[in-house]
Amino acid sequence: MAIGPVDGEFRAGDWDTYKMATREPFVELEPLANEIAIVDEVLATLVAAEMLPDADYDGERFAAHRAAVREAFEIPWTAISPRQERLIWVLNAITRPTHMVAAGVFCGFTFICNAGAAVGPGATFEAEDLVGVEIKPEEAERAERNVRLIDPTGVARVITEDAVEVVADYPAPIDLLYLDANGDRDRGKGIYLEILESAYDRLSPGALVLAHNSVNAAEKLAGYLQFVRDPEHMTASVNVILDSEGLEVSAR
Ligand SMILES: C[S@@+](CC[C@H](N)C(=O)[O-])C[C@H]1O[C@@H](n2cnc3c(N)ncnc32)[C@H](O)[C@@H]1O
Repeated sequence: MAIGPVDGEFRAGDWDTYKMATREPFVELEPLANEIAIVDEVLATLVAAEMLPDADYDGERFAAHRAAVREAFEIPWTAISPRQERLIWVLNAITRPTHMVAAGVFCGFTFICNAGAAVGPGATFEAEDLVGVEIKPEEAERAERNVRLIDPTGVARVITEDAVEVVADYPAPIDLLYLDANGDRDRGKGIYLEILESAYDRLSPGALVLAHNSVNAAEKLAGYLQFVRDPEHMTASVNVILDSEGLEVSAR
């Protein structure tokens, strides 16, 4: 049975003490076995909520992806913890989105956490178009440079655009939508709802929508969280509190 708004939460016991330094994102925060076990627990929750078909993934492929990104990417800072990095990659590896859009990708790290399940040394399936959208041209250029270092094919690409407009005009059903834009002008993180509303009719049945910062930006995301936790809009939604930032995982 799908998990509704009341039951829709996964909370790691140490979510508030598991902390990263954003300028040293690859420092080991815990033994690898802990990270794997926590992500396995999240997957079991999402399978129970009927949001994922199973919880199986190739851990060696993920390790190859992580190593390549650490070696190649220029990452000035990121708040994506190793647990989040693994979870986002795994959600893509399990659901195999043919078309994926990531909104607000900054230097490209969050984008490759998603796209790296289909391109580069961690590829586990063939995708058609994986697009990262970044509104700041200089960030989009760096992200595109980073991505090209591990994906020579161009299946994964980063463009300079406003994500609200890109999803509205996207020419195929979107199988996975990742939200991490912090808006501009007065829009802030509230822009997640604007992007989702623009994309809503273009989401394929069962599409996953992943929203970073469901914990530390919960207040600013109140409208968004209310929308995705309403069974009229999404079939299920789980707030995955595996670190102090959180990831709301919702299924269309
Ligand atoms: C704070 S960053 C995300 C960083 C990510 N959470 C991490 O820890 O690595 C958010 C990005 O969204 C971009 N952005 C803001 N509004 C946007 C929009 N409307 N469309 C696309 N990108 C946008 C910003 O320029 C910024 O680079």
